[in-house]
Amino acid sequence: MTATLIDGKAHAAALVERVRAAVPAFAAARGRAPGLAVVLVGDNPASHVYVKNKLARTATAGMRSIEHRLPADVPETDLLALVVALNADDAVDGILVQLPLPGQIDEAKVLVAIDPDKDVDGFHPVNAGRLATGLPGLVPCTPTGCLMLLKDACGDLSGAEALVVGRSNIVGKPMAALLTAASATVTIAHSRTRDLAGHVARADIVVAAVGVPELVRGSWLKPGAVVIDVGMNRITRDDGTTKLVGDVNFNEAVAVARAITPVPGGVGPMTIACLLRNTLTAALLRAGLPAVVGL
Ligand code: GUN
Repeated sequence: MTATLIDGKAHAAALVERVRAAVPAFAAARGRAPGLAVVLVGDNPASHVYVKNKLARTATAGMRSIEHRLPADVPETDLLALVVALNADDAVDGILVQLPLPGQIDEAKVLVAIDPDKDVDGFHPVNAGRLATGLPGLVPCTPTGCLMLLKDACGDLSGAEALVVGRSNIVGKPMAALLTAASATVTIAHSRTRDLAGHVARADIVVAAVGVPELVRGSWLKPGAVVIDVGMNRITRDDGTTKLVGDVNFNEAVAVARAITPVPGGVGPMTIACLLRNTLTAALLRAGLPAVVGL
């Protein structure tokens, strides 16, 4: 068997287009486009690249972005004061504080300070609670994108055995909540899991989000499984050059799975597209306007 490649780039482009098409109606009603504030603290090179991409895609979708850059040694109180100001700014619909934050800043304190209705990352405990209890709210972007790819590849997820490898607040836990809401039978595996290979072998769906390069081996997979690889690990080859690999050994898995996301070009583009979707959703909800059907 050779797996079908799940084209995250194409899915993301289609989603960005749906968002872009819905922006003019919001702008006509409110006299402005939806606005996303992005806060970048310090000089983490990867964070700079992510933020640049997020800002560029926001413009592609016809929305406004406001970038706030703070120095690496900014006091926590200054960052919290900025978040309070953004919460109060009516022209700001979404607030994203890029993680990780420098050591002097308590990340949890900052995330809790964001107005849950502007929390386009879906990281606020109120939004985590809404997701866990089935209430409408803003849902983290990466797992939302994974679910869209899965629904497209599998159709109905009801009753499917789904394994989520990784228990982070950003991906693993919300992914498990979304799969549970979609009526899959969900297992969460993590660094203390005994017999990871045995769990993988039972899964119809594997979502790998642990940050360990090529941890999941092709020989562990159930033939015909659908594999979503959230990993983005830069490894150095024997000749000193580097390459990006996922948390799944792609070359092995592609021979066993029914469908698989490549790295790069799988989940990554969906994360930003879902951020734009969340920004539009937040803007509509704050304005008391109806949600866009089929977004
Ligand atoms: N750092 C890595 N991924 C993310 C993300 O999805 N949101 C934020 N705010 N920071 C990140």
